[in-house]
Amino acid sequence: MRAVVVYASQTGFTRRYAEWIAEELGGEAVPVERADGIDAGSYDAVVFGGWLHAGGLVGKKWLARARAAHPRTPFVAFAVGATPPEWADMVDEAMAREFPSPELDGVERFYLRGGFAYERLSLPNKLAMKMFFKMQEKQAATDPRAAEMLSGMRGGFDGTDRAAIAPVVARVRELAAAKGAEQA
Ligand SMILES: Cc1cc2nc3c(=O)[nH]c(=O)nc-3n(C[C@H](O)[C@H](O)[C@H](O)COP(=O)(O)O)c2cc1C
Repeated sequence: MRAVVVYASQTGFTRRYAEWIAEELGGEAVPVERADGIDAGSYDAVVFGGWLHAGGLVGKKWLARARAAHPRTPFVAFAVGATPPEWADMVDEAMAREFPSPELDGVERFYLRGGFAYERLSLPNKLAMKMFFKMQEKQAATDPRAAEMLSGMRGGFDGTDRAAIAPVVARVRELAAAKGAEQA
C-alpha cells in the first residue's frame, strides 16, 4: 500500500502523530507547506492531520483542494486539539464545523488529543493565547471545564498517545484495501 501523510503543525504535536501514522503505514509525512507538489491521486490513501486553532482546522484549504482534485482517492483526516476527547460535545461541534458538507463529504475524520507548548508558539499565537487566558479566567469561575483547560494550558502538557492512532491506521488500511479490490 502507498500512503502519504500531510500535516499542518506549529508546535510539533500534530507532526508527531503524522510521523507515527506514516511509520505504521510505511509512507512519508510531509508538511502541508511542501505538499503542493504531491500527486494525491497516485496514492492508495491520503491522510491529512491539522491542528485546531480557535476552532479552525489549520491546513483545511489544502485538504479541500486535494479532495476535490482526487475524488476517487480515499482521504482520512485527523484534527489535533487541546480539548480532551471526553468532552464530546465540544469535539463534535468543532469537527462538524471544520469538515463541512459537501466539500469534505467522504473524508473520514478522527480527533486526537495534542498538547500545549506556549514557548513554541509564534508571537501572534502567544498574544492570542494571552487573550484566551484572560477570557478563560472569567469563565473559570463558573465553568469547571474552562478552569481545567486554563490550568492545563498554563502549565503546558503533552497529551499525545501513540495508541490513539490505531483506529486511524486501521481505517486507512481498510479503505486502501477496498480501493485495491475495486481496481483488481
Ligand atoms: C491560538 C490558539 C488557539 C487554539 N484553539 C484551540 C481550539 O479551538 N480547540 C482545541 O482543542 N485546541 C486549541 N488550541 C490548542 C492546539 O490545537 C494544540 O496545542 C495542538 O496540540 C497544537 O498542535 P501542533 O503542536 O501540531 O501545532 C489552540 C492553540 C492556540 C495557540
